[in-house]
Amino acid sequence: MSGTDETGTSRRAFLGAGLAAGGAVATTGLARAQDADPLITEVQDWASAFGDPVDATPYGMPIHYESHVVRRNVEWLTESPVSSINFTPIHALEGTITPQGCAFERHHSGAIELAKQDYRLMISGLVERPLVFTYEDLTRFPRTITTAFCECAANGGMEWGGAQLEGCQFTQGMIHNMEYTGVPLRLLLEEAGVKPEGKWVYAEGADASSNGRSMPLEKAMDDVLVAFFANGEALRKEHGYPVRLVVPGFEGNMWVKWLRRIGVYDRAVESREETSKYTDLMPDGRARKWTWVMDAKSVITSPSPQAPIRHGKGPLVITGLAWSGHGKVARVDVSLDGGVNWVEARLTGDVKSKALTRFHLDLDWDGSEMFLQSRAVDETGYVQPTKNQLREIRGLNNVYHNNGIQTWWVRADGEVENVEIA
Ligand code: MTE
Ligand code: CO
Repeated sequence: MSGTDETGTSRRAFLGAGLAAGGAVATTGLARAQDADPLITEVQDWASAFGDPVDATPYGMPIHYESHVVRRNVEWLTESPVSSINFTPIHALEGTITPQGCAFERHHSGAIELAKQDYRLMISGLVERPLVFTYEDLTRFPRTITTAFCECAANGGMEWGGAQLEGCQFTQGMIHNMEYTGVPLRLLLEEAGVKPEGKWVYAEGADASSNGRSMPLEKAMDDVLVAFFANGEALRKEHGYPVRLVVPGFEGNMWVKWLRRIGVYDRAVESREETSKYTDLMPDGRARKWTWVMDAKSVITSPSPQAPIRHGKGPLVITGLAWSGHGKVARVDVSLDGGVNWVEARLTGDVKSKALTRFHLDLDWDGSEMFLQSRAVDETGYVQPTKNQLREIRGLNNVYHNNGIQTWWVRADGEVENVEIA
């Protein structure tokens, strides 16, 4: 792409008037046919010899040029790496599916290794027939496929007090979105026969923390999946191999990994560690409880602090992700001036319920600074709030459920900073 300002200058006037959104930039002379480019005119090394044979990497990894596209953690965030979290490099990904290899991990007591032959899932409590399933038993139930985002309730949690971490990987990267194949939990519960008094479903993992959580029976019978494939292959160890719970729209903590027990009860049961943790402390000292559903949110992934603009002014692709635990994303608006003016972005590709949605805005950037924001609206009509709107209601004692609007300050030199504007 050309670094000169010859491209698209005639469209600059749009920017002054607000925003230029459109898809016509491809015809504005980005190619440089006039230059003698050795990469075109000379025979290159890679065209003069054989490449790798087919069996060089039986299971392929990304090419080394992409080795920066990895999960990262923030060491000071947690006391120990086994009860910790890392972040998806969302600034460097496109589309909507998160490759398992760089999808964030959150463990309370480390990622365990559990072989399929040692795997057991018990269904107990208020059921007609308590059951134990082997892995193979599970593979004999009818399967379904669901694409869903998994967002840790703590995503964005460090930003309650103000802009803190440089990079959307760190501020918003506790999220991934995969295509899961598994058995609807409903089918297993029907096999066991839920007694009329059974109103809650408790799920627990095989790891030391167990991460036991309860959800209402209606949710368990609705769209919850006992999943064993993600993005077409077996779950990775760190995401709960061989079986995890997929709980579309609900906070990540409910997505129990290494799933070992489902208990049906007449009340909510929580395991030792989690009882008081996943609640939201309010300014008056009371706490919000059972805030499972993740409200609509969005973030611009590029440009962003880890993805500055290197090519100068002219055509610029702004892109980001939007999602809602309540259903489909209906619209995403983008602002270049910190929320004064808004323009509707394009929702690109399929829009799926409770899954990540990709948006784009094709812009003719005039090279002046921008305060980039995105704002998601979901199919219920809910509009993503500003951080200040959230603080007015929830105060500053909170860690969880920060779905406030993120601001990136794009400077004239293309560098980007995490900022907040009043
Ligand atoms: N399940 C078990 N068994 N143990 C855990 O520590 N962490 C939970 C949830 N399920 C956890 C678990 C939390 S807090 C989150 S956000 C998600 O798993 C993260 O899933 P991931 O590691 O696949 O990203
Ligand atoms: Co979590």
